[in-house]
Amino acid sequence: MMARQMETIVDPRALQQQVLEWRAQGLRVGFVPTMGFLHAGHTSLMDVARPLCDRLVVSIFVNPLQFAPDEDLDRYPRDPVGDAAKCVAHGTDVLFMPEALYPPGHVTRVRVSGLTEGLCGADRPTHFEGVTTVVARLFGLVQPHVAVFGEKDYQQLAIIRRMTHDLALPVEVVGGALVRDSDGVALSSRNKYLSPDQRRRARTLSGSLLAIIAAVEAGERDVPTLLALGRSVLDADLVDYLDIRAADDLAPLTRLDRAARAFGAAKYGQTRLIDNMALPDISA
Ligand code: PAF
Repeated sequence: MMARQMETIVDPRALQQQVLEWRAQGLRVGFVPTMGFLHAGHTSLMDVARPLCDRLVVSIFVNPLQFAPDEDLDRYPRDPVGDAAKCVAHGTDVLFMPEALYPPGHVTRVRVSGLTEGLCGADRPTHFEGVTTVVARLFGLVQPHVAVFGEKDYQQLAIIRRMTHDLALPVEVVGGALVRDSDGVALSSRNKYLSPDQRRRARTLSGSLLAIIAAVEAGERDVPTLLALGRSVLDADLVDYLDIRAADDLAPLTRLDRAARAFGAAKYGQTRLIDNMALPDISA
């Protein structure tokens, strides 16, 4: 960890001006976008970005566009003071915390089709359009050379890579490994909502993905069989989905014949958690 002088900027134009000055000096800009309430998963993304750039920008903006009306926008957890301390400790040069990010009357939306339609997109049909719209705007303001997104939201990462490619945005998109607590639960700002009992039950989400991996290691290749096995250990009020998809384009698979990942989403009370794991390499 490296403590350094950090500036907090709230005005989008001031942020853009700062970045333009850095770029004019030939400095390489790194970017980690977040919605705050930072945990070790977020700070690990800063640690990935830091050696890849000369100046690191972290943004905190709880983006209303990616929440449906019945989701947790109003109660999304916030901790600006704690967040700022974590950003300083992980080498952030500028913490960008806009109060308003979109210009008045904004009407532009960025939508990636295909990749957004399954997995989390099935239950949250407007979510990814909100994500790609905010990330496109943040890319326009921050103008990063490199941006780091967590593999915890693997579908989001794939969608952002696709958007960046399709729109020829001059940003290198890098994935940062998912970070877990000691009980195997993937770190998420929403874990804070879980009661002790829900937390105990939430362990079965990663447990179901591990059961799938163990079965692949034992030679099973049939995807419906693997999914039935995974479901049998998953303890949730509502299993949103458990699925196995191709790792690169998230194509549905019926048999493991290429690099794949297992994905799960489940609800514990009102709290919806997601997780994913790479399946063992079957080419060997
Ligand atoms: O992953 C998140 O925290 C958000 O979806 C992101 C990328 C910051 C956009 O609001």
